[in-house]
Amino acid sequence: MYKQLDPNFAYRVFTGGPLITIFTKNEKDIPDGMTAAWSCPYDPDVLLLVLDKDHTTSENIRHNGKLVVAIPSADQKDIALTLGSVHGRDVGNKLQIKRIDTELSKSFEYPVIKDALAYFECVCEDAALFAEKGICLAKVKNVYVKEEMWDDANEHFVPGCTHTLQHVSAGNFKTGGKVI
Ligand SMILES: Cc1cc2nc3c(=O)[nH]c(=O)nc-3n(C[C@H](O)[C@H](O)[C@H](O)COP(=O)(O)O)c2cc1C
Repeated sequence: MYKQLDPNFAYRVFTGGPLITIFTKNEKDIPDGMTAAWSCPYDPDVLLLVLDKDHTTSENIRHNGKLVVAIPSADQKDIALTLGSVHGRDVGNKLQIKRIDTELSKSFEYPVIKDALAYFECVCEDAALFAEKGICLAKVKNVYVKEEMWDDANEHFVPGCTHTLQHVSAGNFKTGGKVI
C-alpha cells in the first residue's frame, strides 16, 4: 500500500544531499553565509546547488562567481538555522551580527563556519544557467576535509558522512544513519 501525497511534498520525500552552508562576499568585501538543503553532486568535482535568485548569496555569486560551500556537523544545526533565517543585505554583515564563529578558508580566504566537517572553494561555472534558473554548478577548486572524517585507505568520507545533517522539514533534520 502507498499513500499518495500532494506533489508539493515531493522534495520532502526525496530530500537532498547533506545540509550545506554557503559563504560569499559582495562587491564591498562584506561576507555573507546562508544555508541550503537542495544540493547534490553533478560531476566528480562539480556540486549542484539550487538557490533562490533573490538571496544575498545569489547576488554575491553573480557579482564575482566565487563561493565556499561548507558541510556543518550535526552539532552545528543551530548555526545553520541562524544563517538560513535572515538576508545578509537586510542586516549588513550577517556573520558578525549573528556572532557566527568563523575561520578563513585556506585559498580564497573567505570566512566559513569554524570546524565544519569539510569545505569546498568553488567558482560558479555557468553564469547564464545560474542567472536564469538559480542552478549553480559549483566547480570545486579546492576541497578540504577534517582529517579524522576521511578514510584514506578507502578514499571516502566515513565517519564524516554519519555526522552530516539531512533536512527533513522546517527545523527538523536527521543525522547519524548507519553505514552498511
Ligand atoms: C534548513 C534550511 C534549508 C534551506 N535550503 C535552501 C536552499 O536549498 N536553497 C535556497 O535558496 N534557500 C534555502 N534556505 C533559505 C536561505 O538559507 C535563507 O533564505 C537565507 O536567509 C538566505 O540568506 P542570504 O540572503 O544572506 O543569502 C534554507 C534555509 C534553511 C533554514
